[in-house]
Amino acid sequence: MTLLNADSISLSFGGVAALSDVSLAIQPGEVHSLIGPNGAGKTTMFNVVTCIYRPQCGTLTFRGENIIGLKPHQVTKMGMARTFQNIRLFGSMTVLDNVIVAACCRSTTGPLSAMLGTPGMKREAQKFREKALNLLEFIGLSEHAEDVASSLPYGLQRRLEIARALATDPELILLDEPTAGMNDAETMQLIQLIAEIRNTGKAVLLIEHDMKVVMNVSDKITVLDRGKKIAEGPPSLVAKDPAVIKAYLGQEL
Ligand SMILES: Nc1ncnc2c1ncn2[C@@H]1O[C@H](COP(=O)(O)OP(=O)(O)O)[C@@H](O)[C@H]1O
Ligand SMILES: [Mg+2]
Repeated sequence: MTLLNADSISLSFGGVAALSDVSLAIQPGEVHSLIGPNGAGKTTMFNVVTCIYRPQCGTLTFRGENIIGLKPHQVTKMGMARTFQNIRLFGSMTVLDNVIVAACCRSTTGPLSAMLGTPGMKREAQKFREKALNLLEFIGLSEHAEDVASSLPYGLQRRLEIARALATDPELILLDEPTAGMNDAETMQLIQLIAEIRNTGKAVLLIEHDMKVVMNVSDKITVLDRGKKIAEGPPSLVAKDPAVIKAYLGQEL
């Protein structure tokens, strides 16, 4: 079954058609990139898919269920997680606590038992801590677990954001320009990490301007330009598509 199905999505801001009639289908376990020049509508599409924005037209299902009208945290609980174009961490908290807080979206005991410090709550807190430590290991941040998040170099903060998203147990993870501000070595490590996330069976929807990353990791690419979908397919075909080359004219593809 298609994991995420966005069909004929349109959304305008004032007179600007940020998205017109855009369809996007994500299959389980695939890495799908959303690319296009600045202002193409990529982040807006993320905001629609994660229910931050409500589209004016179109339908949207996740795991076969309509999600239009749901709140972002409800969609997170269904198994969709994201990172943002601008880093959003709890800067003064430790790396470990940042991940634990994210994992708590799966809490079953609720705030009352947390306040009362019940045995069930203590067991759950221990479980989240172990889960967070495992995730830090997976993402390569174990040695920074007790560091204050804002003290990490930029590339590691971006990785921490991904760890936080993974802590919610997503089936689909959306990454908005994860290599922004990364150096070459960090970018190569991120390519590796995306492949590892995919190996765990999760689907990845990636917004990325670095074509080296896109061509390397994507099973499928969807290209937006000025709010419209202009191409879609495997990397080898999209890279040769005349409409795509035209949209990127003057930019490196
Ligand atoms: N909240 C908003 N209010 C008004 N205009 C917006 C808003 N968000 C995006 N836009 C406009 O929608 C278009 C697409 O933006 P965006 O989705 O951020 O593009 P991209 O991520 O591809 O660079 C741009 O013209 C942008 O100015
Ligand atoms: Mg954007």
